Amino acid sequence: MASKSKSVFVCSGCGFESPKWYGKCPGCGEWNTMSEEIREPARSAPKTAGHHSMSRPISINEIDTEDEQRYQTGLSELDRVLGGGIVRGSLILISGDPGIGKSTILLQICEYLGRQLRILYVSGEESSRQIKLRARRLGVSSKNLLILTETDIQLVVEQIQELKPDLVMIDSIQTMNHPELNSSPGSVTQVRECTNYVMRTAKSLDIPIMVVGHVNKDGAIAGPKVLEHIVDAVLYFEGDRQMSYRILRAVKNRYGSTNEIGVFDMGEKGLSQVDNPSMALLSGRPKNVSGTCVTCVMEGTRPILAEVQGLATTTGFGNPRRTATGFDYNRMSLLLAVLEKKAGYYFSNLDAYVNIVGGLRLDEPAADLAVAMALISSLKDAQIGDNVLVFGEIGLTGELRSVSHVNARIAEAAHLGFETCILPQASLKQVNLEHGGIRLIGVRNIREAFEAAVL
Ligand SMILES: Nc1ncnc2c1ncn2[C@@H]1O[C@H](COP(=O)(O)OP(=O)(O)OP(=O)(O)O)[C@@H](O)[C@H]1O
Ligand SMILES: [Mg+2]
Ligand SMILES: [Zn+2]
Repeated sequence: MASKSKSVFVCSGCGFESPKWYGKCPGCGEWNTMSEEIREPARSAPKTAGHHSMSRPISINEIDTEDEQRYQTGLSELDRVLGGGIVRGSLILISGDPGIGKSTILLQICEYLGRQLRILYVSGEESSRQIKLRARRLGVSSKNLLILTETDIQLVVEQIQELKPDLVMIDSIQTMNHPELNSSPGSVTQVRECTNYVMRTAKSLDIPIMVVGHVNKDGAIAGPKVLEHIVDAVLYFEGDRQMSYRILRAVKNRYGSTNEIGVFDMGEKGLSQVDNPSMALLSGRPKNVSGTCVTCVMEGTRPILAEVQGLATTTGFGNPRRTATGFDYNRMSLLLAVLEKKAGYYFSNLDAYVNIVGGLRLDEPAADLAVAMALISSLKDAQIGDNVLVFGEIGLTGELRSVSHVNARIAEAAHLGFETCILPQASLKQVNLEHGGIRLIGVRNIREAFEAAVL
């Protein structure tokens, strides 16, 4: 009986498994994500890379702690997101929408890293010719860069063991398959087992491996969320396809903070670093129009200015529509409720839209005030001053609450030439710098803020 293969149903979103099929996944609640996979017992666990030695517990004092070695990539924006460079033996997952630039960034850092390190670039997606063409466009021509086009993960790992490169890149994990597993390439089982296999290889040989992972239509890493648990770091590439800015963000990092972002500009020669993200994100900002407001958010240790746009229009028919891009939808609904109930700005039969320009995502409560101002500005068709910047958290009673890093935000606003900064009254007492003439207006509620902000 033991050799009988069994069939399981696995959710492609969250990795939930069950012996029977469900239309709606009990794990994550998504529809039509369960698909059948065949498991063969006994042979299903791929062999570990390296020897099959038994591990034994050792005293924590005996564990070798020579300084963890990091490789700088030549892109300081990427190093920042990684927490200071690529850690030896780590497995890093790079993910993002199709065409956002995952292959580009990997290939691009090979030029700099290839001066010191031997790199193996494994592609299961593109031919060596395609890679060469891209490399030529990006100006990558390191002789230390080896290209392997292969989809059999066992053969890939064999090559890694033989070549012992200093760094490995795999593009992408969804194209890899383990021949001992019966499920098809790209299936949850395959993706998970291949990742596990790669992880063991990285650890046992102490080689850092960077892996590309595709996302599905909902933005989750295709193949399971479980991937995120296996790897050491998960980086997401985001950005507006229409705009050239790309934002790299760590959503998990065992070797650094997850708050930092890196900002890049995609051009013909590949990604270039954006040294002044605030200026870049505000470039092309419309002047003399209503429905736009600038704020300052903290991305890790860095203050970044962002433009928030709001639009309120009469509902065509039925229920009013609400859309938020780059901002939390529920937070927007809550703000609209507060605006209506506590500040007397009525949106209930209007469609309302919020958009954060440049592909940035504002998750910080300090962005509340700018969202409110942009919406009210559109509602009243009253323009907010071009040189006005606002920040502050909005509470449920419509009060403005103090936020962190007040000085850093004001300094960034002053640095980019803003003349007036509207902030919570309670934050004023934290201000302890000279701000080069920027006018600070402390406000206690939404109405006061709007009156101070309009021209
Ligand atoms: N000749 C070019 N000039 C300018 N930009 C280009 C050029 N060729 C490609 N690009 C940019 O590079 C992007 C594709 O980058 P890349 O192939 O690295 O993306 P990817 O994330 O690996 O995509 P996939 O998911 O398809 O593998 C394009 O969307 C485009 O923005
Ligand atoms: Mg690619
Ligand atoms: Zn699920």
